[in-house]
Amino acid sequence: MATGKPVLLSDLVSIASYVPSNYIRPVSARPKLSEVLSSDGSIPLIDLQGLEGPNRSSIVGEIGQACQTHGFFQVKNHGIPNKVIDGTLSVSKEFFHLTERERLKNYSDDPTKTTRLSTSFNVKTETVSSWRDFLRLHCYPLEDYIHEWPSNPPSFREDVAEYCRNARELSLRLLEAISESLCLETDYISKALSKHGQHMAVNYYPPCPQPELTYGLPAHADPNAITILLQDDVPGLQVLQNDKWVAINRIPYTFIVNIGDQIQVISNDRYRSVLHRAVVDRDRERISIPTFYCPSHDAVFGPAPSLIDDDHPALYRNFAYSEYCQKFWNHGLATETCLGMFKN
Ligand code: OGA
Ligand code: NI
Repeated sequence: MATGKPVLLSDLVSIASYVPSNYIRPVSARPKLSEVLSSDGSIPLIDLQGLEGPNRSSIVGEIGQACQTHGFFQVKNHGIPNKVIDGTLSVSKEFFHLTERERLKNYSDDPTKTTRLSTSFNVKTETVSSWRDFLRLHCYPLEDYIHEWPSNPPSFREDVAEYCRNARELSLRLLEAISESLCLETDYISKALSKHGQHMAVNYYPPCPQPELTYGLPAHADPNAITILLQDDVPGLQVLQNDKWVAINRIPYTFIVNIGDQIQVISNDRYRSVLHRAVVDRDRERISIPTFYCPSHDAVFGPAPSLIDDDHPALYRNFAYSEYCQKFWNHGLATETCLGMFKN
């Protein structure tokens, strides 16, 4: 902040007609947008209607298949009301349209803070910046954190808390289904997460004058258990499938779900935590709101014993989630995921 430069990207872009040099990726590491495939049909769309009823085993089977082959799927009939989705997206957009002075009350570049507004990914360690501002919130248990959240817009806490409760409910249902799909006890993953954690990022990607030179978020795998992505109607998410980047088009009122590194570990690599990235749009701002359902820091991870045998030796050593998170934030977003550091 001492440099006198704008702290947040959203305040810089109002004056920029080109991408400043610290956002420009080396030629070999740019998004190559002309080579990106269009998505339609490439990520399975799973209907959760009847998950707690007669369709359970077939839906569990579909989820397991998607986790194996894609690491990503979309869900409909997920139980989160449309008005909760609309309310969260609109209050999030309102937050990023507040005055700089108002938004900066929440600013911090310390990744250990439980509520903070920041920019790029980790401004303290990275060499090239990303075209993103983000508000990061801890959301579970809600009563421990909600008093830290922004108090402006006035309905922010209430609207986002309602979404968080719904997103947690959906996460738990999916974790049970994923456990069953691996032939584990229904509550196996839930128990492995110890006291559970739930974090949310409200990502704000301002319009970018030269989207081919930079990223909203470069390629990365998510370090947590599962991620549920809510997003507005501006495309930006791309997923690596068969070594090709595929652009994912949003279907209104559905969510994109992806497997994070911890489920890859529990599954002993049967399920895949897949690389994905966000690119930016020349003309339109974009909001995306991932819910990261996570272990608590004391949780200890390793492959589930019942998934280890002579043909499938344990691929990872046991480790504490706190160790994993520390490595993730220091490592920076990179195409080599942190999982390699925990291999046997
Ligand atoms: C993330 C992420 C994708 C997006 O925040 O981890 O992958 O579309 N976001 O914003
Ligand atoms: Ni991600």
